[in-house]
Amino acid sequence: MLDLFADAEPWQEPLAPGAVILRRFALPRAAALLTGIDEVAAVSPFRHMVTPGGYTMSVAMTNCGQLGWATNERGYLYAPNDPTTGRPWPPMPDTFQRLCHEAAVAAGYADFKPDACLINRYAFGAKLSLHQDKDEPDLRAPIVSVSLGLPAVFQFGGLRRNDPLKRLMLEHGDVVVWGGESRLFYHGIQPLKPGVHPQTGAFRFNLTFRQAAYGE
Ligand code: SIN
Ligand code: FE2
Repeated sequence: MLDLFADAEPWQEPLAPGAVILRRFALPRAAALLTGIDEVAAVSPFRHMVTPGGYTMSVAMTNCGQLGWATNERGYLYAPNDPTTGRPWPPMPDTFQRLCHEAAVAAGYADFKPDACLINRYAFGAKLSLHQDKDEPDLRAPIVSVSLGLPAVFQFGGLRRNDPLKRLMLEHGDVVVWGGESRLFYHGIQPLKPGVHPQTGAFRFNLTFRQAAYGE
């Protein structure tokens, strides 16, 4: 069958000042990224973290890199060790680092050096309520966010929680990069619709690359 999109070049959609969607940017590397997720999860398994308020998150999470994002009774933190295993988070696979670097360059953040990669896994109904990524001390670094598997509706607002929201479908291979003026913009993911994706089955995965330590 003729697939008109099989060889399509990725394209860019401006989202906000400092923010852009790189449509299908990760598509050629999707299989390798999914293998990387499996390898990370074999060491540090997906788990449902509990917020300081006692709420069990619907999104399952794990991390790779020098630092990983986690919750505890007092709040959110980045730490070198996985609290579940007591061992360091697994290193960031080379495929992750390369993809992230190329996306950052394409979005105009060539200096971005992530030291943390949060891996989110969404099943039917899982969501991420509107929030800011603000646990990182150095806000000069952007966020690079890679979508794999089932599509999901991404909300992207402004600096205030009640600023108007854009709603965009993120699909397999899409990469969103935000930094600069939009680094602290509110965003979230609406509840995942049921479905089956040829490469991820009933799931959506998201890789969120961040600089979690203060840079030079
Ligand atoms: C996040 O906001 O940390 C994740 C967004 C996504 O899953 O696309
Ligand atoms: Fe976020």
